[in-house]
Amino acid sequence: MKPKDLQQVLEADLQHVWHPITQHRILAKQPPKVIVGAHGSTVVDAEGREYLDGMAGLWCVNVGYGRREIAEAVYRQLLELPYYPHTQANVPAATLADRLTELVGGEPRHTYFVNSGTEANEAAFKLVRQYHRQVHPHEPRFKIIGRHYAYHGTSLATLAAGAIPERKSKYEPLGDGFLHVPPVYCHRCPFGLTYPSCALACAKQFEYAIKAEGAETVAAVVIEPIQSALGVLVPPEEYLGEVSAACRRHGVLLILDEVINGFGRTGRWFAYQHYGVTPDLLCLAKGLTSGYQPIGAVMATSRVFDGFLGEVEENRQAAQINTWGGHAAACAAALANLEIMEREQLPARAAETGAYLLEGLRRLLSLPVVGDVRGKGLLLAVELVEDRATRAPLGGARMAAVVRGCLERGVIVGRSSGAGGGFGNCITLAPPLVLTRGEADRIVETLHTVLSGGTA
Ligand SMILES: Cc1ncc(COP(=O)(O)O)c(C=O)c1O
Repeated sequence: MKPKDLQQVLEADLQHVWHPITQHRILAKQPPKVIVGAHGSTVVDAEGREYLDGMAGLWCVNVGYGRREIAEAVYRQLLELPYYPHTQANVPAATLADRLTELVGGEPRHTYFVNSGTEANEAAFKLVRQYHRQVHPHEPRFKIIGRHYAYHGTSLATLAAGAIPERKSKYEPLGDGFLHVPPVYCHRCPFGLTYPSCALACAKQFEYAIKAEGAETVAAVVIEPIQSALGVLVPPEEYLGEVSAACRRHGVLLILDEVINGFGRTGRWFAYQHYGVTPDLLCLAKGLTSGYQPIGAVMATSRVFDGFLGEVEENRQAAQINTWGGHAAACAAALANLEIMEREQLPARAAETGAYLLEGLRRLLSLPVVGDVRGKGLLLAVELVEDRATRAPLGGARMAAVVRGCLERGVIVGRSSGAGGGFGNCITLAPPLVLTRGEADRIVETLHTVLSGGTA
């Protein structure tokens, strides 16, 4: 881009665009990067500078950038049929729903399409409430139990289900009927315990809350198998099984939010597949199209879906419609994306490169500022501390300096949320699943330089 054109774009941007979670006073002094191109795991700005994208956009460009075959699949579909409301059927959406059922191994098997992760979770909350109202009309099951510091989306109900103070406090009051239990955060156990002698006190909180609320009032539990935004909280092996069993004992549905975890990122198609459970509802977005088109989806088991069957006059059908739900071109993008993931065995590659990257990151533990390193597949975090002994989280200004230091060296890393509650001290990594070992080395070397070079 010519410098004059770039200046015009920046001027238009600063005058007229309102950016998310960004202080515009800072933008005036440090203008945003104008990203104009990308290939593989690299994005390119308007001045021709390349950055290794350690966050795959917003944890989503799983197959990497520049995939012609996805663009061509979308192009062909737009010419044939761009869109038609999903009260009727279309070929890519039906094929995609079938493919998703294969990927989860048969259940959940009914897919409701939406346009984002927020909408997937929001739809799941509505569907579980409607399910219980229709199937257990004498039980007022409407409460949804999530975890503190979780992130499930931007709408009022998904903000209520999550609990990140800085994202929600100014929008309160939010939706009613959402409760929270502590996260599974072994490095900073909310109970001050240590695994395994803790006997999974955090997992037991779900049953405690269900009983305390009255099981007959609880509709669902919503969790990510690996809680991402707070700093990639990989649970002990038995955690998800315990939560799932508690739900089953009390007739509570289990909603798994795999908006980030899904589509190969953790080394399997879906993260829950590591832990031997089956969700009642599975919420998907991001990696479903690797960001080539906006999409989201909720998959429900036959048991849940059957609760919506009846005569038309009974009015049991799902009582919502999204204009773009089942968008033919978005579904075509998803199909092409999944084909690439399968052909190139990207879930297995994420497991392999992820293990390699984790091993490299573990070497950073020799630096006093690194308190913990964890991850599964290509979903990882490096937790930074002021002091190893006390585990005091590294402060906000120093965290920002680490992120900036990496960026200046051409590597994009993320930062965890939860700063409002004294967290926000993890560097997060969720690169494209096509990341090479050489690129993994570069991430480790860059972090090593920045963390040992006085920036932190
Ligand atoms: C776990 C999780 N769920 C839901 C969402 C919301 O997805 P979207 O931004 O597509 O609405 C996000 C977004 O980052 C997420 O991380």
